Amino acid sequence: MTGSFASPSADATVSPQLFAPGLLATVLDGFNVWKGLLTLFIAAVIYDQFKYHYYKGSIVGPAYKFPFMGPFLQSVNPKFHEYKAKWDSGDLSCVSVFHKFVVIASTRDMSRKIFNSPGYVKPCVVDAAHKLLGKTNWVFLDGKDHVDYRKGLNGLFTRQALSLYLPRAEEVFNDYFKRFLEKSTANNFQPTPWMPEFRELMCALSCRTFVGYYMPDETIQKIADDYYLITAALELVNFPIILPYTKTWYGKKAADMVLEEFSKCAAKSKARMAAGGDISCIMDAWVKAQLDSAKYREKIAKGIQVDSSEKPSQVLRDFTDFEIAQTVFTFLFASQDATSAASTWLFQLMADRPDILDKVREENLSIRNGDPTVPLSMDLLDNLPYTRAVVKETLRYRPPVIMVPYLVKKDFPISEKVTVSKGSMIIPSVWPACHDEEAYPNADSFDPDRWITGTAEQQSKNWLVFGTGPHYCLGQTYAQLSLMGMIGKASMEMDWEHTSTPKSEDIKVFATIFPQDDCLLNFRPRA
Ligand code: HEM
Repeated sequence: MTGSFASPSADATVSPQLFAPGLLATVLDGFNVWKGLLTLFIAAVIYDQFKYHYYKGSIVGPAYKFPFMGPFLQSVNPKFHEYKAKWDSGDLSCVSVFHKFVVIASTRDMSRKIFNSPGYVKPCVVDAAHKLLGKTNWVFLDGKDHVDYRKGLNGLFTRQALSLYLPRAEEVFNDYFKRFLEKSTANNFQPTPWMPEFRELMCALSCRTFVGYYMPDETIQKIADDYYLITAALELVNFPIILPYTKTWYGKKAADMVLEEFSKCAAKSKARMAAGGDISCIMDAWVKAQLDSAKYREKIAKGIQVDSSEKPSQVLRDFTDFEIAQTVFTFLFASQDATSAASTWLFQLMADRPDILDKVREENLSIRNGDPTVPLSMDLLDNLPYTRAVVKETLRYRPPVIMVPYLVKKDFPISEKVTVSKGSMIIPSVWPACHDEEAYPNADSFDPDRWITGTAEQQSKNWLVFGTGPHYCLGQTYAQLSLMGMIGKASMEMDWEHTSTPKSEDIKVFATIFPQDDCLLNFRPRA
């Protein structure tokens, strides 16, 4: 072929080859396939764009969607300031990632409306949660099924039940505070990121409270280590299928391991409780409730007269080891990241505000008549108003769960102008309600006194830290009491220093929120 020919088919030496029988057909076929594919692709891009605009309507959001995946790469590594920009952009804002249209509500009232509209929405946690927890998990139940299942769990979180698990918390705190001191001594009291230590402590606290000593220390350690993989898989929106060696794949493997370990614990708890053992953990309490229900049902079936006082408050069916494991896993799933975030901020804030820490210490010593070895009890925790205020203020100032994803199950008229389409994700936000200047004057300052002498306690509509409506947090009392018990004991037993960096107050989003520098601390025993 020479350079003087504009088209190969005009080249005398090429033309005969092109017109050879069969070759033309092949080229044309190929051309049609590619052309067809290109046409399809362009049509799909236009459809994707059109669908986005149709769903978006008057909601604030990007003018165009990056074809198909939208801001997926951004959502893989979410930044707090990006969420904040969304909240500041309007009462409702939106984004579309792959197949999901996501609406974010920023105001308190819009958020409350979503939490309280079970007829239109149901929790979807995050995309990966269905894969990790199992589609049949109780947290995805809806309506009456959810209410009924939850009734059967309420008894595990009453004050009386919680008091039975307190000794487990005490043991975990003793063990981990000793480790904190050993680690700091080994580090020559150099500041070290303590966020991973708090995650481990919280994992141990959860496992011991949920399954007592049915689980050996090594397994708790393994769960604490592998839990990172589960958290890492919890992006708001994931690639729709689990591809090998991706974050969701590793997360699923870790979740399966945890489920297997909890199943083993359930078998042990059943055997021990059937032999008349005492309740030592949440799993025991649930197994005992099932055994009591079975006895009651048996008597009724045999026609035996049963006094109404003997009827369990909830008559439960029997649950398999795996079902028990699945449910206990939801407790770990719900608590691990949130309590790790809360404890990290709590220790950081206390170190930064020694005046407040002193008051916590004083209150905790005084209620124990000066003897720091007096163990935790419900009575004792009831009489720590300042420590309670510190915990509540920490949760308000740095709410661990900043947003709660819900799924729209039928077209949802959220305002006069906007109806969010079925199948969309809709997200009530917690942070803005907790930082509302009207409800909490000077909202960006940490001030526990607002819960004692101020009006914070009256702002129940803004207190969305544990959600509201039919799915409000089942563990909220337990979580707050644990944090109070932990910081009270720590204040009496240890001194700790926070090394502030320019990133200490900046927020990192890792399912929940943490200081960006992972909280540099060192601990010393109190003389
Ligand atoms: C500081 C710690 C915690 C925070 C900030 C927190 C926050 C939340 C939030 C915002 C929700 C969603 C509520 C809604 O949709 O209305 C929730 C649900 C839930 N939380 Fe917590 N949580 C914490 C600790 C715990 C703990 C320790 C447990 C278990 C022992 C727990 C168990 C649950 C469960 C089971 C649900 C789902 C309830 C349902 O769907 O009916 N949480 N939590």
